[in-house]
Amino acid sequence: MIGRLNHVAIAVPDLERARAFYRDALGARVSEIEDQPEHGVRTVFVTLPNTKIELLGVLGEDSPIRGFLERHPQGGIHHICVEVEDIEAARAQLRARGVRLLGGGEPRIGAHGKPVLFLHPKDVFGTLLELEQA
Ligand code: CO
Repeated sequence: MIGRLNHVAIAVPDLERARAFYRDALGARVSEIEDQPEHGVRTVFVTLPNTKIELLGVLGEDSPIRGFLERHPQGGIHHICVEVEDIEAARAQLRARGVRLLGGGEPRIGAHGKPVLFLHPKDVFGTLLELEQA
């Protein structure tokens, strides 16, 4: 069912600093900072030859990464995202196995304008897993 690794997301306490580090110290191609108000995050995409790194910063009081950064003040890997061809089929298959989906399991439009779903980390061996319809 799952296909390519779309991105690895890293929550960071200082998005400007992290962006500059990836650009200057690591020589990576980085996007501008984009606010994603419907997700409560600001993002920077680091484009690698075979995948992307998504740097996540806090946006707003209810940001979903605020709690994560309280537990991991220096930042850390927040989730990984893999592609699926059909997100509705993926959802049905996972629900049939009792896998919990975040946000009531309704696919939302993610940072790339494609539908995404998040699987509960407790059902995925401790890793928050995002599915994105390719
Ligand atoms: Co993501």
